[in-house]
Amino acid sequence: MSTLIKNGRIVTAEQDYIGDIFIENEKITLIGESLDITADTVIDAKNKYVIPGGIDVHTHLDMPFGGTTSSDDFFTGTRAAAFGGTTSLIDFAIQPKGKSFRDGLNIWKAKAEGKAVIDYGFHMIITDLPDERISEMTEMIDEGVTSFKLFLAYPNILMVDDATIFKAMKHAASIGALICMHAENGMVIDDIVKETVAAGKLSPVNHAISRPALAEGEATHRAIALAQMAGAPVYIVHLTCNDALEHVANARAKGLPAFAETCPQYLFHSIDDMDTPDFEGAKLVFSPPLREKWNQEKLWAGLKQNTLQVVATDHCPFNFKGQKDMGIDDFTKIPNGGPSLENRLHLTFEGGVNEKRISLNRWVEINSTAPAKIFGMYPKKGSISVGSDADIVVWDPNAEHILSAETHHMNVDYSMYEGKKIKGDVDTVLSRGKVIVQDNEFKGTAGEGSFIKRAPYGSAWD
Ligand code: URP
Ligand code: ZN
Ligand code: ZN
Repeated sequence: MSTLIKNGRIVTAEQDYIGDIFIENEKITLIGESLDITADTVIDAKNKYVIPGGIDVHTHLDMPFGGTTSSDDFFTGTRAAAFGGTTSLIDFAIQPKGKSFRDGLNIWKAKAEGKAVIDYGFHMIITDLPDERISEMTEMIDEGVTSFKLFLAYPNILMVDDATIFKAMKHAASIGALICMHAENGMVIDDIVKETVAAGKLSPVNHAISRPALAEGEATHRAIALAQMAGAPVYIVHLTCNDALEHVANARAKGLPAFAETCPQYLFHSIDDMDTPDFEGAKLVFSPPLREKWNQEKLWAGLKQNTLQVVATDHCPFNFKGQKDMGIDDFTKIPNGGPSLENRLHLTFEGGVNEKRISLNRWVEINSTAPAKIFGMYPKKGSISVGSDADIVVWDPNAEHILSAETHHMNVDYSMYEGKKIKGDVDTVLSRGKVIVQDNEFKGTAGEGSFIKRAPYGSAWD
């Protein structure tokens, strides 16, 4: 099967030109001006942007968490991703405590197989790391799971101590693994949470109040220092605030391989949005939490200046009715997480490109090319070049779109962006050359997404 995308404005992280793209056997095989070639399918992209498909490197599909399970599975979640122009994602597999990484990988592969409509990879969440398990990190690299997440938060659930992190980082440095850090000081937060509850402060906003920005700043600094001592690269996930950003900026200024992502929720919401008299604030309960509004411009500047390299969603959806309301009387029982897998390209286009905070090339870079490079998928993914996978989005910069739970495809009963108007929308989405979304209609098939065997860290940087 062959496809020709004609007359589009091809925008990559570096380039911007009018051209045609010819696709055969799932790959881009030819790019040129006014290609004189016949194809089984022709897509006219005149007046539209043609970009590499979005890559969301932080999702939690079908994940047991906080006494319940995230409400999108690998079918509904990847379908929603496709509607939003995301054609690859990396989800987090969890090592069952005391068991092998392979057990965790098998559980998550079984969740995805037969369901995913776009390509997917996995990070491995390390919950314990006795010496005899260290070699399993190398096994994961051989499986194409080349990044690991460790938590400095959630004591007794996911948190590990500094010695474990240091051990993981030292081994990561020797095998080309990338350590991803959830950077919040969990012990301090637990103490503040106990005080807050004892004082009878139980509404949703108290979740955010009890997790101060300084607890994220301290943990970010510690994670970077541990990585420096271990001689390892480090990637800070879901960075929210200037306290943490400054530590990443300082590390990068010293030439350290420190990377960080932020998420749309931190660019568009602040703690003020949680402070409602009803339970609505629960829709915005996630960790790390929302910050004071002034942090938003710092994050946008961080994206522009490359202190932050990636926007990922941390998509971890829980329904308002039946899940978030488990914590109606006590914020500590609200499952942590929010939905935005479908909204990332829209939001960063509106807030970034339309509002002139970042360039069009940078929009492509933070949503697709940089995540592909950092996580060992480039140039197969994140690129429009001969030989790369034909994961392509035709984007209409003039189409109007309104974000709403009524029309979104995520399996969750609310939107964090209800009613928000966006100028710019997905027109057509191709996953390895096959059209999976067109004219707002789903044309994909459950199970057609494949596991992405990722390369070790460094392959795109050396
Ligand atoms: O609140 C969040 N972020 N839930 C998902 C788990 C995590 O820490 O990423
Ligand atoms: Zn996290
Ligand atoms: Zn997460």
